[in-house]
Amino acid sequence: MYVWPCAVVLAQYLWFHRRSLPGKAVLEIGAGVSLPGILAAKCGAKVILSDSLELPYCLEICRQSCQMNNLPCMQVVGLTWGHISQDLLALPPQDIILASDVFFEPEDFEDILTTVYFLMQKNPKVQLWSTYQVRSADWSLEALLYKWDMKCVHIPLEAFDADKDDIAESVLPGRHTVEMLVISFAKDSL
Ligand SMILES: C[S@@+](CC[C@H](N)C(=O)[O-])C[C@H]1O[C@@H](n2cnc3c(N)ncnc32)[C@H](O)[C@@H]1O
Repeated sequence: MYVWPCAVVLAQYLWFHRRSLPGKAVLEIGAGVSLPGILAAKCGAKVILSDSLELPYCLEICRQSCQMNNLPCMQVVGLTWGHISQDLLALPPQDIILASDVFFEPEDFEDILTTVYFLMQKNPKVQLWSTYQVRSADWSLEALLYKWDMKCVHIPLEAFDADKDDIAESVLPGRHTVEMLVISFAKDSL
């Protein structure tokens, strides 16, 4: 397991907005090492980490990140994108969904948005804060966002001091092209 460049950029966005985090309900999906979720919890958010129910090793990595960062009580659940499982049904309404580098296989894009759409039914004001590494110019979320009644705002990296090769002493972003997206329900005013 690996901290992906996107995770460092999303963590920087969270740090920039840290004063808005205390008390917020935050769910990280496809969390892996969980850098953004761990940071959100350290900033006072009520965080639930998740990764695929079919990848128990990844869920174990989430738990180890909690232990190593002195957050032993943080909830970790198995959520596979596109599956309406008991654990998804049982989740309380969320304010923010974090998703770092989850848009990497185009065949998964709609499953991810299905899970987000389900959570939008619980709280229409929930926002998906996601970082996306541009790997192919052919991939686009636009048509799927339209289909699922969602809108997307691109946040320029310079708006949160992330337009550099290294962020917070991490050189991971390097020369990768990473985009910061805030996705919300189209009928809600952002
Ligand atoms: C590129 S890694 C990103 C990990 C972490 N968010 C980061 O940026 O460091 C993709 C993550 O998505 C998870 N994942 C892959 N397929 C999934 C699925 N169908 N449902 C839920 N999680 C999935 C993987 O286990 C992995 O943790």
